[in-house]
Amino acid sequence: MEVRVVTGDITQIDADAIVVNLFEGVEQLGGASAAVDKALGGAISSLMGKGEFKGKFGEVGIVHTLGKLPARMIAVAGLGKQRDFNLDKIRGVAGGFCRSLRKLNCHRIATILHGAGVGGVEPEASGEAIAEGAVLGLYNFSRYKKPDYEDIAEMLIVGREQSEIPVVERGVRKGRIMAEATCLARDMVNEPANYMTPSRMADIAKEIADKHSLELNVFDLEDMEAMGMGALLGVARGSKEAPKLITLSYKGDERSEKAVGFLGKGITFDSGGISIKPSEAMGDMKDDMAGGAAGIAALSAIVQLNPKLNVTAVVPATENLPSGTALKPGDILKAMNGKTIEVISTDAEGRLILADALSYAVKQGLSPLVDLATLTGACRVALGNGYSGAFTNNQELLNEVIKAADKSGEKLWQMPMPEEYKQQNKSEIADVKNTGNKYGGAITAALFLSEFVDNTPWVHIDIAGTSLSSKESGYMVKGATGVGVRTLVELALSLANRERIM
Ligand code: BES
Ligand code: MN
Ligand code: ZN
Repeated sequence: MEVRVVTGDITQIDADAIVVNLFEGVEQLGGASAAVDKALGGAISSLMGKGEFKGKFGEVGIVHTLGKLPARMIAVAGLGKQRDFNLDKIRGVAGGFCRSLRKLNCHRIATILHGAGVGGVEPEASGEAIAEGAVLGLYNFSRYKKPDYEDIAEMLIVGREQSEIPVVERGVRKGRIMAEATCLARDMVNEPANYMTPSRMADIAKEIADKHSLELNVFDLEDMEAMGMGALLGVARGSKEAPKLITLSYKGDERSEKAVGFLGKGITFDSGGISIKPSEAMGDMKDDMAGGAAGIAALSAIVQLNPKLNVTAVVPATENLPSGTALKPGDILKAMNGKTIEVISTDAEGRLILADALSYAVKQGLSPLVDLATLTGACRVALGNGYSGAFTNNQELLNEVIKAADKSGEKLWQMPMPEEYKQQNKSEIADVKNTGNKYGGAITAALFLSEFVDNTPWVHIDIAGTSLSSKESGYMVKGATGVGVRTLVELALSLANRERIM
């Protein structure tokens, strides 16, 4: 979809649909909505008067112009209650009306800058949120089944003044970059595991590296052996698919040696291994590389936004399968940092591959570190599908991550890391074991990871509950959400603006 920023009289625009808006509970139309209503002889007022349209968040009212205006129809987007209004609502509204209009066979649409009037939002931020929400909301995974609609080819964003155009265009550019990177992550996650193998993840990282001149390393099995990555190799050994450790680096600050590390779990299919999972919904475990996809996709956006800092994504990628060569409960593995791990469950494989990825990142001097992982069912039980769990050894860093998440509209909730729970990971015969006891599983998993980060400032984000969506709503669609991408990108932008990165 092309997005263009224009100015002019909204009532005179020739498009399949023109989108105006209304807050819930507002009885007097204002601005563009009033102008359109007047041109149509009160058609919108009548819709409201009869209670057909209330302005509830996500509601879309349709009025046909019947030749009274150049456009075929007017869509009134409900913004919800004014006191609940924020940038994320604009994203949601844009995603929602775009999907509605696509169903109504609209190919060219025009919209006002939602929120820029009484909503009190800056034009640049509104343009960004509209473009981001529209691209995210129109996302569809269509590689294996053609959709029954045509795409919206063009969206015009109609600003009020000529001088606003470059500012809004800047916002639109950022919104598109954010959304397209998120859609790239969604594509990677939605791909079935027979296609999205560790090698294919490495290929995608290479395509990004070539396109944007990023530095890429793809370590294979022999490299992992040479580096002593016994934990990652332990998991990989059950599968015939070659494991890959992918690193993708952006250099935005040539004068600095320091680089931030974004790590992501890249289990391209998690059957549980010998500790095999029940078959019900096992297919969802193709999404167990959502953290890795987010790390790679985030770099593709960061390089285009060009912040002044260095960032390296680190993605350990492998399958977790049972076989004659697979890891067994009771096995002991030695991670790259020298710590030995007793394997209690082969289904707690994410923390094993991250143990080596974190050790590698620490050894490379990457700092601070943020990892994203579909790590524990326990986190999904604790927080549901709306919030990712965040854990840290450095509150200042987590505060930055929370700020970035707030900006992007992704929801995070801090979880505790109580020292006392550490004894749950104690093993009789190795330095640590890979599961705790029955309760608090998201926490003991995070505490396990903390064994491999040394003193490096680190945040772990458990996205087991948020990587997939079961419903379509606002800028979310069914399937992969691409969670984490926008938070990581916002974080890179904000860290670049700090005196001291951390
Ligand atoms: N990939 C899963 C976690 C997961 C579960 C993600 C559900 C998304 C939805 C992870 O590898 C896993 O299997 N974790 C185990 C840990 C347990 C064996 C300690 C779990 O959560 O059951
Ligand atoms: Mn598992
Ligand atoms: Zn897993």
